[in-house]
Amino acid sequence: MGERVAVFKFGENWASFSRSIDETRIEEAKQSLKKLFGEGAFSGKSFLDIGCGSGLFSIAAAQLGARSVLGLDVDPISVATSQSNAAHWLKSPSSISFRQLSILDGEQMNQLGTFDIVYSWGVLHHTGNMKLALRNAGQRVAPNGMLMIAIYNRHWSSGVWKVIKWVYNRVGSWVQKILIWILTPVIFLAKWLVTFQNPFRMQRGMDFMHNVIDWVGGYPYEYASIAEMSAALENIGFERLDVFPAKVPTGCNEFVCRKITASAG
Ligand SMILES: C[S@@+](CC[C@H](N)C(=O)[O-])C[C@H]1O[C@@H](n2cnc3c(N)ncnc32)[C@H](O)[C@@H]1O
Repeated sequence: MGERVAVFKFGENWASFSRSIDETRIEEAKQSLKKLFGEGAFSGKSFLDIGCGSGLFSIAAAQLGARSVLGLDVDPISVATSQSNAAHWLKSPSSISFRQLSILDGEQMNQLGTFDIVYSWGVLHHTGNMKLALRNAGQRVAPNGMLMIAIYNRHWSSGVWKVIKWVYNRVGSWVQKILIWILTPVIFLAKWLVTFQNPFRMQRGMDFMHNVIDWVGGYPYEYASIAEMSAALENIGFERLDVFPAKVPTGCNEFVCRKITASAG
């Protein structure tokens, strides 16, 4: 029998984070989408958010004018949280929907059709099979459509974090609390030393403490360098348009790509 993989339950953390969502966080989420895709990129477009978490970026895409938005997450609590956030923050939530689905389920994913923009921030490395997840995500992009993925950077400490995350998901809730208690100042200090900025000042509408829990607990965990990801994206038929390197060495590199579509004739 194979090893039972302990999986972090992201949904509970997203439900807790959602209590802090306000206009400012939604505005920051919109700014981060504009940084990646440019001003006006969402108008009339279909948008797929793989691993939607709290639904914040699905909501932001809808507010930026996307014609239809679908958010997927493997965790049912994330799906329910995203639904209730969309109902709260969107004036007409009819063009947005959420479903519980794994990006690894190729058959179900194929039935969704294709989208003008596919967005998956900090997700594919948590599936347990990043290569398959990337291929399945790429297949949901319409011809000439855009794919944005954010993947943890490879760093000398990545293997150490993998062990910490593995342990976190095998101990009881009290030991988990102690681990968070020990690691929070370590993460705070490391972030401050690398960026010289206040670690509480987050981007993308995120929040420091929920991010610490997401980071320490997030398992399965894979990572790749910018060169490795660029090659993998080219391999599945994408042209890399832009890359935004992670602000901290173990953070997520963001890749913006266009699907290469062979011209007829
Ligand atoms: C780090 S969170 C990122 C959430 C969101 N994309 C964001 O940027 O705020 C990762 C999310 O991916 C989801 N996830 C993990 N494995 C998945 C899979 N196989 N299919 C779909 N979603 C998955 C988790 O439940 C979690 O909500």
